[in-house]
Parts: sequence; structure tokens; C-alpha cells
Amino acid sequence: MHIRILGSAAGGGFPQWNCNSPRCREARAGRLTGERRTQSSIAVSGNGRDWLLINASPDIRQQIIDNPVLHPSGEVRSSNIAAIALMDSQIDHVTGLLMLRESRDPLPIYCTSRTEEDLRTGFPILEILKHYCGSRVASLPVDGSSVQPAEVPGVRLTPVPLTSKAPPYSPHRESPEPGDNIGLLIENPDNGRRAFYAPGLGEIGEHLHRWLSEADVIMVDGTTWTDDEMARVVGGRKTAREMGHLPLDGPDGMIAYLSAYPAARRILVHINNTNPILDPASAERARLQELDIEVSRDGMDIEL
Ligand code: MLT
Ligand code: MN
Repeated sequence: MHIRILGSAAGGGFPQWNCNSPRCREARAGRLTGERRTQSSIAVSGNGRDWLLINASPDIRQQIIDNPVLHPSGEVRSSNIAAIALMDSQIDHVTGLLMLRESRDPLPIYCTSRTEEDLRTGFPILEILKHYCGSRVASLPVDGSSVQPAEVPGVRLTPVPLTSKAPPYSPHRESPEPGDNIGLLIENPDNGRRAFYAPGLGEIGEHLHRWLSEADVIMVDGTTWTDDEMARVVGGRKTAREMGHLPLDGPDGMIAYLSAYPAARRILVHINNTNPILDPASAERARLQELDIEVSRDGMDIEL
């Protein structure tokens, strides 16, 4: 099974369009151009031909151009993106559905009923798509059971409900329930190898241990280094935790948590443009290297 990281940044990407911080400036023009990242998405395939797009980023058009495995190889209007799975209804994870509206067939979408509800009400993309290609939504369970999307042979998914946050436009924002945000255990049914993927992870509950301890690869939320980082770098008050993201540093941060799984390949995804790890010369990046925790990049491949 192949996993391709299409976009390794959080919402806004790196550099972000209106960010004039020294790091974003450098990513546009100077030392950090190699660190540029598009917004959060991966693709998974069992056979190397039919791909499951996990999250549809606003950058999907560029991501397809940059990743030849996703180029159409069939009829004059066709795609090797065979299905789409969504982990929540956040802008950076679903807006790309609008860019796929030229599809000849209704888009096959796997998401929880909570995410579907958001996408029919607060951010009614699925309603808008009715005027274009339409969609065919299959509900993802949140009871620990698995699904094997028929469109993507050789990929098994187990959705894992997470404590994070539904987006501000969601009718569920202040009344969280399982299914607002999920992680995915992505499994190769032929050899049993597994990756756990969670770009938005605000709190680590006991129930996650079971899934993480079974994973050969852990790809998790690396949005910020500290909780107050966004407020310090760009102003305002929002903390990472309030936005549903566990910071990396600190005694109860993501790095400390990952230390319980030294045997797994550990990779950070969904990296915000305020995060100091975006600078390869930073002390924070050196610390990750010491701990053998990887920073994902656009175009990175993971084989399972
Ligand atoms: C998030 O992950 O918290 C959101 O994607 C933030 C955003 O881009 O609005
Ligand atoms: Mn996000």
C-alpha cells in the first residue's frame, strides 16, 4: 500500500498568502523555499492506480499537477482519484471538493454523518455540488468497525473518533459528539501493516492508545510547537488547544505522547506557518531529529 503526502501544511499553507512574518518571507524568496507546503491532504492506494484522496484541500489542483500518480490515465475525462474520504468539515480539508466539480461522475465521498451534516448546512458544499457533478456519500462508522472502499482495492479504513473541534460554521461547534473529527487507521489488508493518520488531534484520550500501539506509522497533528504560538506570532488570542490542536512541546504535548511509541515511524503532518520546525536550522527541528520524529513534506512517500 502506498501513501503519498500531498499537502503537509495546516490551513493557510506555508507561506500563507497574507503572512509577512520573517519565516513566510523567507519561504517566498530566500533560504526556506524548499520548505513550502500546501494544505493538508494525503492519497492512499493499494494497487498504485486507484487512489483514495483523504481530505480535499483547497490546493488540490496544484497537488494533482505536482503528483503524476494522480494524473488522468484513462478516457479524455477521467481521474485516478477513485474516491475521497473526509476527516472533518474544516475548510482546509473539504474546499477542494469544489475544485473537483468538473468530474464526469458524482464524487464518491466517505465521511461521518456529522461531517455530512456540516457539509449540507454550515458549509453546504454537497448542496452546491448538486448543480455540478453531484456526490455519492457513504457514511463512515464511528463504532470501531472498518470499511473497505470498493473503489480502492487493498485499503482498509477504521475511523477513530477524536476530541478536536468542529469548525466555527458547524452547527456542532459547541456540542461536540463522536464523528465531528476522526482519525483513520489505514491498513494494508494483505500484510496487516497500518498507519494511523490524524491531522487534527486536540486531546489524546485513553481510547487512542489501542490504535496507536497497533500502528507501524503514526502521522499526527504537528500544527504548532507551543499553545500560544499563533497569538505570539500574529496577534489575537486563539490558542492551538482552543482550535483543537495539541501543541508539540510541553510535558503533556504531542512529542511527550509520541515517546510512548518508539517502535513506530512517527511523522508530523498539518504544520502551521507559525511553527518554528519549518526552519531546518531551528533548535526545535534539531530536537525532533534527535528524537527520530519526522517532519512530513509535500510529495513524501510512505510504503506499508
Ligand atoms: C484547523 O485545522 O484548525 C483549521 O483548518 C484552521 C483553518 O484553516 O481555518
Ligand atoms: Mn486544518
